[in-house]
Parts: sequence; structure tokens; C-alpha cells
Amino acid sequence: MKNYRIAAIPGDGIGKEVVAAGTEVLDVLAKRDGGFTMSFDHFDWGSDYYKKHGVMMPADGRDHIKDHDAIYFGAVGAPDVPDHVTLWGLRLAICQPFDQYANVRPTRILPGIESPLRNVKQTELDWVIVRENSEGEYAGQGGRSHVGLPEEVATEVSIFTRAGVTRIMRFAFDLARSRPRKKLTVVTKSNAQRNGMVMWDEIAKEVAAEYPDVEWDKMLVDAMTMRMTLRPETLDTIVATNLHADILSDLAAALAGSLGIAPTANLNPEGKFPSMFEPIHGSAFDITGQGIANPVATFWSAVMMLDHLGEKTASERLMRAVERVTANPDLHTPDLGGTATTRQVTDAVIAAIQGDN
Ligand code: NAI
Ligand code: MG
Repeated sequence: MKNYRIAAIPGDGIGKEVVAAGTEVLDVLAKRDGGFTMSFDHFDWGSDYYKKHGVMMPADGRDHIKDHDAIYFGAVGAPDVPDHVTLWGLRLAICQPFDQYANVRPTRILPGIESPLRNVKQTELDWVIVRENSEGEYAGQGGRSHVGLPEEVATEVSIFTRAGVTRIMRFAFDLARSRPRKKLTVVTKSNAQRNGMVMWDEIAKEVAAEYPDVEWDKMLVDAMTMRMTLRPETLDTIVATNLHADILSDLAAALAGSLGIAPTANLNPEGKFPSMFEPIHGSAFDITGQGIANPVATFWSAVMMLDHLGEKTASERLMRAVERVTANPDLHTPDLGGTATTRQVTDAVIAAIQGDN
């Protein structure tokens, strides 16, 4: 029987609460499906680790997880550690060296959940955002000189490479092709950013020629926020840079009902390194420790992990269970306007898995 070794990195804040719920659900699911087992190795990396050791993860941390089948991640960020330290010290320290260049973020309105958009029907918002996850605005290029002096300068340089842009475009076109509508929107800002974004547009056009069956269009990122809000049904698959997609996907999550639902996969499509699955939300200090974090994003991330591992039956079973639970407003956490706890939602998903046939 196939055993998957999963590296669980809960991180900080509600990351710990939702990953605990996720591993519990996955244990039940593996037992229920019988065809595979899943073993979790837990890593206590994050801000508490940082306060003890001065680093978010050990120097050889990646060596401990590079042979796992996948990484199940919570969130990083603590009120008393600067955000760039936590993010670069752990999440980006895994994503970038493991070349998880395709960040995939599905968004849809799950049963029982209401979009803040007044007239949108459930079927009218069904998107997948593909975020370039290895370069662009988050390449880490830049520096600061004359720190603290009036003449201080800081640069934050975006890096776009032909290889990097081409591979994310191909990934996005492939994904668009695999979905019923075969439709891709390429997000850009090539009016104001006349170098990197112009190359981005040129490569989009070149790659598009390889996919005559995929209908595609181009949107400037600012106009894209309007289109997402006013005409959501005209969108399907979306590809954007690291920064643009980061912002657009929070908007997408909110339009689909809550950040607490939105999942993501950080994929190394070639499988040279493990891929990483996580909710898109952060550590949410405002609700940490209250037991009310919505675990749905983390469950949906597990669905993506199972898909990636090729466990289709289990992934579909888990998604059905999650949707059965979201359909019941009594099982909504406060971010969705309800009063349910993480525990109650988790128990309900477990019961739905056990009752599924
Ligand atoms: P956040 O995503 O942690 O929270 C934003 C708002 O959404 C908060 O009001 C929070 O309570 C709510 N929320 C988020 N997830 C929820 C859930 N599962 N259930 C119910 N409500 C939920 O973003 P924020 O507040 O900007 O950042 C907090 C920390 O998280 C910062 O340190 C930030 O750097 C970090 N962060 C980490 C990310 C990661 O690890 N991938 C992503 C985003 C932020
Ligand atoms: Mg974000």
C-alpha cells in the first residue's frame, strides 16, 4: 500500500489550529479510503522557533523535507517579529529554492456561502488564478543605502526572465485547456511598466500560438479588479505576476465569501522538489487561540494535495464532505457570519467523510 510522507509545517497563529484540523481530517480520509496511508512529520518552525534560535527554520531545514511527498503548510507571521523576516525566513525560503514556481489558487462560491456581490450566482464565479511564484516583484532584488539618513534610498527591483515567464504561461495555458471553458486572461501592467510587463505580454502572445484551442485575452491589473467585481462570469483561468496575483487572489477570496475558505498549491510541476499546499490566509493574530479559525481553506488545500498525489477518489470525497458542511449555515465560522468553531466544522467534515459513499 502506498504511504505518503507529508511534512506538516503549521507555523504561527491560526496556522497551528487549521493544520491540526487538516491532518486529523486527512487521517480519517486515508483510513476511509483504504488505498493509501499518510504519515505526517511535524516541524515546529516559525516565529516561536525564531525567538529561541534566531532563525525561522534550521539552516539545513530544507534537507529534512526535500524527500517528502508534499508539504502541508499553515501560515507565518507574528505581531512581534517583522513580517519580511517571517515570510522570507520560512515560506519563501521553501517556495523559491524548491522552485515551486506555479502558485495555483482556485476560487469558487461553495454551497451555502454567500458572495458579497449582490447578484452573482454560484456558477458565475469559478476561477483559477495562476500566480508566478518564483521571480517578478518578489525576487528579493534591491537594497537600502544610507539607512536612517535623510538621503536614504531603497530599491525593490522586479526580475522577469524569459524562462520564468514562458514556463508560467505554458502552465497557465495548460490549466486553462484542462478546464471546460478553455479560457485564459493574462493580467499585465504594460502601459506603465514598459520593460518587464511588455516582455510578459510578448511571451503570452508567443505561447498562445501553441494553444489555438484556448481563448485568451489581456487585462491591465487595475481594470482587472473592476472586471472581477462587475463581470465575474467573464473570467475563468487567470495568470498574473507574483505581486499582482497575490493581491487579486485576496480579492477573489473575499468575493467568494471569505479568506478563510481560499486554498493554494505551490507547485513544482516537474516534481523535482516537493510541492506545498496551504491556505492563502495568514496567521490572523486577531483570532488566534479563540478556536474560531475557519479550517475550510486548509481542507480545500488538502484536496489539492490529494489531487497532486494522484488520489482522485479521496480528493473528491474530501471536497464533497467540505461542501456538505459549508451548505449548512449552522456550521459557518464567524468569518462567514456564523458561530461555529473550528472543532465543530472539523467534526462535521469528519462525519461527512465517514457518511460518504
Ligand atoms: P490574515 O490572512 O492573517 O488575516 C486577514 C483577516 O482575515 C483577519 O481579520 C483574519 O482574522 C481573517 N482570517 C484569515 N484567515 C481566516 C480564517 N481561516 N478564518 C477566519 N478568519 C480568517 O492577514 P493579515 O492580518 O494581513 O496578516 C497577519 C499575519 O499573517 C502577518 O504577519 C502576515 O505577514 C502573515 N501572512 C502570512 C501569509 C502566509 O503565511 N502565507 C499570508 C498572508 C499573511
Ligand atoms: Mg497574499
